[in-house]
Amino acid sequence: MISAIAPIGMTADACLALLQNSTIEEHGELMAAMTDPMNALISFQQALATGGVSPQMAELHNDVLVLFDHPNGVPRFTYALVREQSVVAVAVFVPTDPIDGTTCFNSGYAVDQRHRSKGLGKEITQKAFDELTEGFRRAGFPGLYVEAIVSTSNEHSQRLANRLFSDSPTACTDEESGQPALQYVRRLF
Ligand SMILES: CC(C)(COP(=O)(O)OP(=O)(O)OC[C@H]1O[C@@H](n2cnc3c(N)ncnc32)[C@H](O)[C@@H]1OP(=O)(O)O)[C@@H](O)C(=O)NCCC(=O)NCCS
Repeated sequence: MISAIAPIGMTADACLALLQNSTIEEHGELMAAMTDPMNALISFQQALATGGVSPQMAELHNDVLVLFDHPNGVPRFTYALVREQSVVAVAVFVPTDPIDGTTCFNSGYAVDQRHRSKGLGKEITQKAFDELTEGFRRAGFPGLYVEAIVSTSNEHSQRLANRLFSDSPTACTDEESGQPALQYVRRLF
């Protein structure tokens, strides 16, 4: 059973301790596997079906489940969009390098193949932003960034990131694949 606590239930000190104690760079490939959004979607669907996870209802949106876990010591927030008792989309957040001293989460998002191009990717990402903003503001954080690293070949994901993260991405290299990518950054608050 994976432990689940809502980020909204954590104090700022507890959040910060978790984020600072995670040695992200040491995990390398493991991080890449954990943040792969399609893996996250499929494993969340499977774990939910077999009772392997106990997510909580999100605070603001009643069609969203939230799971906080820390595989291999790395904190991870997963927000899952539910339709007709099935998880159809997820948005996943793990801490990455702070920006100007402000906490930043790397984001991944995925929609079940059968439900794509209906706005659900944008919906779960925006709802996750709402929940993170609410929870981390209340926990006393002074600000919060989110980033998405998107392959230059993933036009569909670029469209989503362009809408919800930033319309001025920066060229970068995807550390996992070594392929050219775009970094989209947004300050949530
Ligand atoms: C990327 C992904 C999450 C998008 O989710 P979705 O629910 O299908 O997308 P949405 O319907 O919310 O649409 C998002 C944007 O893409 C556009 N879009 C929809 N279908 C598209 C397609 N087939 N090709 C390109 N853009 C498309 C939409 O018009 C929208 O842009 P707009 O707001 O400017 O009109 C989904 O395709 C997916 O799960 N892909 C595999 C996993 C992945 O690549 N994740 C991202 C890793 S960085």
